[in-house]
Amino acid sequence: MIGRLNHVAIVVPDLAAASAVYRDLLGAAVSAPVDLPAHGVTTVFVTLPNTKIELLHPLGADSPIASFLARNPAGGMHHVCYEVDDITAARDRLVGGGARVLGDGTPRLGAHDKPVLFLHPKDFGGTLIELEQA
Ligand code: CO
Repeated sequence: MIGRLNHVAIVVPDLAAASAVYRDLLGAAVSAPVDLPAHGVTTVFVTLPNTKIELLHPLGADSPIASFLARNPAGGMHHVCYEVDDITAARDRLVGGGARVLGDGTPRLGAHDKPVLFLHPKDFGGTLIELEQA
């Protein structure tokens, strides 16, 4: 059911420093920072040949990643995003199999303006999973 790895998201305490590491030390193509107020994050996109890395930093007082950064002050991996062809069918299959979908289970528009859902880390090896309709 799941397809390509769309991205790995890493929360960082300093976007400029993390951008410099990916650009200058690792030699990757790194975007300018993009504020996404609706999602409470500022994002830098790192484009790799086979996937993307999203560097995330809290934006605003109610950022959903503020508590993650408080628990992980050096930063850390936040989630992985897998592509699916039909997010509603994927949700129904997962719920039918006993997996927990975060929120009310309704797909929302994610950072790429495509429908996304998040799955409970306790059902997936301690890893927060985002599903994005490709
Ligand atoms: Co994501």
